[in-house]
Amino acid sequence: MTLLRIPLNQSSMQNPLRQLSAPPRVVKSSCGKSKLISECITVAVEEEARVPSLRTGNGKSKEVIGWESKVLVGTYARAPLVLESGRGCKLYDVDGKEYLDMSSGIAVNSLGHGDPDWLLTVMKQASKLTHVSNVYYSIPQIELAECLVARSFADRVFFCNSGTEANEAAIKFSRKFQRHSHPDEKHPATEFISFINSFHGRTMGALALTSKEHYRIPFEPVMPGVTFVEYGNIEATRKAITRGKTAAVFVEPLQGEGGIHSATMEFLQFLRGACDEAGALLVFDEVQCGLGRTGHLWAHEAYSTFPDIMTLAKPLAGGLPIGAVLVTEKVASAISPGDHGSTFAGSPLVCHAALAVMEKISNPGFLASVAKKGSYFKQKLNQKISGNPHVKEVRGSGLILGIELDVSASPLVEACRNKGLLILTAGKGDVVRLVPPLIISEQELDQAVDILSDALAVLEEGTSSKKFWFPAAVV
Ligand SMILES: Cc1ncc(COP(=O)(O)O)c(C=O)c1O
Repeated sequence: MTLLRIPLNQSSMQNPLRQLSAPPRVVKSSCGKSKLISECITVAVEEEARVPSLRTGNGKSKEVIGWESKVLVGTYARAPLVLESGRGCKLYDVDGKEYLDMSSGIAVNSLGHGDPDWLLTVMKQASKLTHVSNVYYSIPQIELAECLVARSFADRVFFCNSGTEANEAAIKFSRKFQRHSHPDEKHPATEFISFINSFHGRTMGALALTSKEHYRIPFEPVMPGVTFVEYGNIEATRKAITRGKTAAVFVEPLQGEGGIHSATMEFLQFLRGACDEAGALLVFDEVQCGLGRTGHLWAHEAYSTFPDIMTLAKPLAGGLPIGAVLVTEKVASAISPGDHGSTFAGSPLVCHAALAVMEKISNPGFLASVAKKGSYFKQKLNQKISGNPHVKEVRGSGLILGIELDVSASPLVEACRNKGLLILTAGKGDVVRLVPPLIISEQELDQAVDILSDALAVLEEGTSSKKFWFPAAVV
């Protein structure tokens, strides 16, 4: 282990933190002398010698993939790509190849890789205080909650560490709300409505709300009492929501993993009314579609309707693990100390990182640029690829777009990767999911469209029946 002391205002090209330059300050020492100082950060760097075999010759990726297969539980069908560094919208693998990142770590890296303000915030906070647990108070957690409350429908926030945990908390809060609101009821409402093609996470409660059977069946019994209804089907949903039985309705305003399906205005507004009528809570899962991705800070802003609970995660802390549950006072008032909690949640480090993200993403100019780039991207995709006979539809909003194909998208994903473009699949594996960093430039979007358009030829080569190596199950 080597300790490096890095002056943040060092402008040398050798300094990877040179973009973080802070002006030198003049301070007085205890003996009264003035002295010019730079802000420094001490970083511990692991010696590269730890993995010497990976530093020699070509084919490092292959070696790492073999290594991984010996020591990790096989839960992921990973793409055969070993990434080592990133800047902006570019990623670099261990063999030195550059990729344009249209996956953002599955809609996480909204500010791209190595955003200088985010990095400076994280390094400063890490050098000051990283974790204290929720036994104590810490200021960044309260500041982040205040920031989220000020910019949303919500009155209060609960922090956790991931999207599935946020939904798990929303499940518990919904049940507790029903119990609290009906104290004389022997059996208050405990059931949930969720929708076909939904994805809410992989822990037992969130998994129970997730529609794809492939994820659920091997782990049954999951939480009972979930009814799945066709997304957008108002009549079927009306029949399913039952007073005294339905505790809450969980819905993504735009389904991400399920194939990039946007709710209609009529559907979300209907859900609001139906929940109110039945005494059920309305939960918007904006883990993937929230926080600027659609060009609105919250995807539901486009629908002139509000939930009782909203769950967030992925991009909130710029790549550090976080989840958040935003609730109205009505919901919060049902929750008592001890009802829920987490050791790691809301740490000073993660919350300070999230504040840096929020400051950029919630800026109206930033959001307007996402909407503008999203329209530009969709238009270019429609111009250049929608004529291909395998392309059924280009859909989505802002910078969360899907291209539905009439065949598996896997060969296209692979061909794009070989040409230096990283994209994802969604739906039944027949949808290309495009979720670039929100900072992407129009020039980079053009580059992505060109690569995609060239790579489409692979669908003509009879390779579309090739084994999936990058299935929808990567979320
Ligand atoms: C809408 C939605 N909800 C919940 C989750 C689960 O989030 P996590 O993987 O952080 O647990 C995801 C993950 O993709 C998601 O897209």
